[in-house]
Amino acid sequence: MKAIRFDQAGGPEVLKLQDVDLPSPGPGQVRVKHTAIGVNFIDTYQRSGLYPVPLPSGLGLEAAGVVEALGADISELKVGDRVAYAGTLGAYAEANNVPADRLVKLPDGISDEIAAAAMLKGMTAQYLLKRTFPVQRGQTIVFHAAAGGVGLIACQWAKHLGAAVIGTVGSDDKVELARSHGCVHVLNTRTDDWAKRVREITGGQGVPVIYDGIGKETWSRSLDCLAVRGMMVSFGNASGAVPTFEPGILSAKGSLYLTRPTLFHYTRTREELQQTADDLFAVIASGAVKIAINQRLKLADARAAHEALHSRATTGATVLLP
Ligand SMILES: NC(=O)c1ccc[n+]([C@@H]2O[C@H](COP(=O)([O-])OP(=O)(O)OC[C@H]3O[C@@H](n4cnc5c(N)ncnc54)[C@H](OP(=O)(O)O)[C@@H]3O)[C@@H](O)[C@H]2O)c1
Repeated sequence: MKAIRFDQAGGPEVLKLQDVDLPSPGPGQVRVKHTAIGVNFIDTYQRSGLYPVPLPSGLGLEAAGVVEALGADISELKVGDRVAYAGTLGAYAEANNVPADRLVKLPDGISDEIAAAAMLKGMTAQYLLKRTFPVQRGQTIVFHAAAGGVGLIACQWAKHLGAAVIGTVGSDDKVELARSHGCVHVLNTRTDDWAKRVREITGGQGVPVIYDGIGKETWSRSLDCLAVRGMMVSFGNASGAVPTFEPGILSAKGSLYLTRPTLFHYTRTREELQQTADDLFAVIASGAVKIAINQRLKLADARAAHEALHSRATTGATVLLP
């Protein structure tokens, strides 16, 4: 089969389309023939070495498709089932062997492309808004990179939960998109004094929670947006890793809470995974959250997909088609 592989960490140019042999699925595994593959910012961290993976390696954590072959001891799935996953390395390929207990069956109303675009990003929005800091009706919150993959889903979902969302974007041409996906206020991180604006919008109080997937460039000013005893949810590092800091800063800025969560700790058990996916599929089926697939590329063009993510040119989700 064709698969994107890399044998050294580096820029997008290390990604190469290769012919590889996929072994038969082992015990407890299922071979999924991919129909659509999700691209996520975390893929760039694994490629660059920020999150090291043993090399040489495949890449990609999210895909949808059809069960093609079963390993030993599989009872819940059969050949032909439509499934998706988020969290098994090697998704940038025509097929992948995935542990059966990490696969979710797709309901009829969820297309393969939507599943590939939403499993990782949408389950992330689910746990951030409902479990890391359960957003309450009437709260004003800040969500960075509001026009991005996680951002467009999370802003719609937070609005659906009754929050007033202040979203940030990196260019004026993303403002309307963020607004039409749930944001009441949209601030441009490159031109607005956005932490000051958040204070103004909240009458000087600050917000009870800020969701920050940008990292290095926003970390310090994000803390300035928080109300006393507010929570900083640092869930990503699109601009680079958050610098080391003195815990005393959290006390100085208002007895703040800090968490650095990851999806994989919120979908650890089979039950958590299924409940998170069910909640996501329900909010999509209801129409409250629409999945914007704004970039579709061929699997062979994974390098271009990464270049686009780095250039901050993308909005919503990017899907690779095998
Ligand atoms: N912890 C978890 O469980 C988890 C799970 C999924 C994703 N994440 C994190 O969530 C964030 C969003 O992921 P995503 O896949 O949906 O990506 P994305 O939001 O579609 O893309 C990242 C966005 O970050 C913004 N950005 C700001 N500074 C940047 C810089 N220097 N370089 C590149 N982008 C920059 C850009 O938007 P603007 O130009 O509009 O600012 C860019 O579009 C990432 O940090 C990712 O690692 C975390």
